[in-house]
Amino acid sequence: MVSHSGLLTVMERAARKAAPRLRRDFNEVQHLQVSRKGPADFVSMADKRAEQTIYEELSHARPDWAFIMEERGEIAGDPNKPRWVVDPLDGTTNFLHGIPHFAISIAVEEPRPDGRWDTVSALVYQPLTDESFWAERGRGAWLTDQRLRVSARNDLSESLIATGIPFLGHGDFAQWTRIFGAVAPGVAGIRRLGSAALDLAWVAAGRFDGYWESSLSRWDVAAGILLVKEAGGYITDFRGGDKMMERNEFLAANDALHNKLHKLVAGSLR
Ligand code: IPD
Ligand code: CA
Ligand code: CA
Repeated sequence: MVSHSGLLTVMERAARKAAPRLRRDFNEVQHLQVSRKGPADFVSMADKRAEQTIYEELSHARPDWAFIMEERGEIAGDPNKPRWVVDPLDGTTNFLHGIPHFAISIAVEEPRPDGRWDTVSALVYQPLTDESFWAERGRGAWLTDQRLRVSARNDLSESLIATGIPFLGHGDFAQWTRIFGAVAPGVAGIRRLGSAALDLAWVAAGRFDGYWESSLSRWDVAAGILLVKEAGGYITDFRGGDKMMERNEFLAANDALHNKLHKLVAGSLR
């Protein structure tokens, strides 16, 4: 039986504390679909409440660590200490529409001498399925107590690829369309499930064989990136480099497929 560190225990406790209310709110939102005002305000409240619970739990456990959170933004801490990166509800649009696919994402990042940050602990928790995807640097990626490996598929024609499609006011439609045009004809399927954190966790779990998306925020991907790496996968920017955060481009897959996907994606860039 694998045991995770005290830090991961803190992260999981925070996510599990926020989860029951998110589950209740998710059930409630389905009844609000017909109301005139619509459920958007309600969902934004649910989002903020979840973030508050997670914030209280994490800051109680590590009072001097900084935060980057989707709703509250940055909260300063000791610059020499690690920081928390939190998305309390990844998959808001699904939540709002009563689609049961969303997650809580929590990452711990450590400062590097070059000013960049490395994720050292990651948790993507799916409240409705009670699935806890977690990883610690150098200790592998896990689904509860089961070791995760990226898929072994090396044939594009058999692979299932996830992506995020640009939407109103968000992302580069022309670029996404070119990449889609290059990738889709050669693969078994493309999915847009609406939670970047779960997309990456599912690449780590071998459910998806690959994934690409751009125009994301740090809290969407910080945990997922470590999950993919610790599951033996590759994650780069669209040119195959390590400037994912700087370029805001994310391309993940197992070794063999990453090479093939990267050629198609890089060939679609202008
Ligand atoms: C969104 C999801 C989605 C991605 C969007 C994100 P949110 O996060 O991760 O899959 O395509 O770009 O903004 O808003 O649901 O937390
Ligand atoms: Ca998000
Ligand atoms: Ca969110």
